[in-house]
Amino acid sequence: MSTQATEAAPPQGSPDVTFSVRNLWKIFGRNADSVIGTDLERADRDLIKERTGCTVAVRDVSFDVRPGEIFVVMGLSGSGKSTLIRCLTRLIEPTSGSVLLDGEDIEEAGDQRLRELRRHKIAMVFQHFGLLPNRKIIDNVAYGLEVRGMSRAERHARAMEMIDMVGLSGYENARPGELSGGMQQRVGLARALAVDPQVLLFDEPFSALDPLIRRDMQNEVVRLQRELNKTAVFITHDLQEALKLGDRIAIMRDGELVQVGTPEEVVGRPANAYVADFTSDVARTTVLTARWLVRDPFPDERTDGPTTEPGTVLAQILPMLAASTAPVRVVEGDTLLGYVGRDDVLRAIAEDQLEGADQVAAIEEETVEEISDEATDHAGPAPAGDGG
Ligand SMILES: Nc1ncnc2c1ncn2[C@@H]1O[C@H](COP(=O)(O)OP(=O)(O)OP(=O)(O)O)[C@@H](O)[C@H]1O
Ligand SMILES: [Mg+2]
Repeated sequence: MSTQATEAAPPQGSPDVTFSVRNLWKIFGRNADSVIGTDLERADRDLIKERTGCTVAVRDVSFDVRPGEIFVVMGLSGSGKSTLIRCLTRLIEPTSGSVLLDGEDIEEAGDQRLRELRRHKIAMVFQHFGLLPNRKIIDNVAYGLEVRGMSRAERHARAMEMIDMVGLSGYENARPGELSGGMQQRVGLARALAVDPQVLLFDEPFSALDPLIRRDMQNEVVRLQRELNKTAVFITHDLQEALKLGDRIAIMRDGELVQVGTPEEVVGRPANAYVADFTSDVARTTVLTARWLVRDPFPDERTDGPTTEPGTVLAQILPMLAASTAPVRVVEGDTLLGYVGRDDVLRAIAEDQLEGADQVAAIEEETVEEISDEATDHAGPAPAGDGG
């Protein structure tokens, strides 16, 4: 198991990066400055709270978001996700650290420039839609364009296009209250897309929706992102959603990023017991792909097996292997990447079982430690961590 929390990052300000975040901290409370750079900096969140009254919401976080990717931030309630995403546009002022947007240091942006960025470059979709109840759907969707000063005819034409795109044609003259939650969130999505932003920020947009509608909306995001090629930062506390949407997933715990990686990396090589626990219910066969297992041929191995693409998940490779004694050939375009055989798949599945056992042991150990810590501390219950 790798112990590395984050992958090696390119130098900050590199052109292939949309958001470049380095050593970002957000500490709520009056004495925020009395923490960073002191011995307390590395201390436990609860201890810092006890000593200074401050809440460490985001702790020394660094990552890059690449153009065109969906970057998912996942973590439990109170782990700092909303604070982090708001720091990206300074809706919340970071305590320290830097955020570059296309190489521009947003810390140095004045009010005017920040407004410009928030109106033109970045759009946000929230959990609770945030629609204006007395306005028609079309005027809700056109809101960002109106703020920009676009003429009524022009912004309505653009809004109608967006309403059409999210499948709400015919509802343009309705009021938000007449629409279901799923439909209202489509309006939220249309409103964000109307301004043609380069970056979309989503803060748990689908958490309030029923599972089926939620799935529709997830598919919608995947489709729109592919068609429109936007860069997105998407927050969720739902692992299935993270795996479905994320090109890469960042896992947050108590304000820190514990791992950043592709869905396959997070499930196949969890950085620690916490991530392993988080992902333990996911069947590897539904996440790991041929690319994960591909290898060179062994001497004398048959090379006439069935062909598949690198993105094929193991669950789909299994029946191919059942029908053939030769390993599967993994081909990308015209290039043969290598082979995946029965043993490779079996081993990946078996590791799942073995690591499952390891994880349970590790988690049990942690729990025992926590319980004995608590017993010696005589500490009361932790405060409910929710501010978002
Ligand atoms: N304005 C604030 N003042 C003080 N503490 C805050 C404030 N906003 C958030 N916090 C605290 O910071 C921590 C992180 O909160 P945040 O809302 O970022 O978490 P989250 O991961 O978005 O949680 P959720 O999934 O519940 O939305 C929490 O402990 C929260 O209580
Ligand atoms: Mg939140």
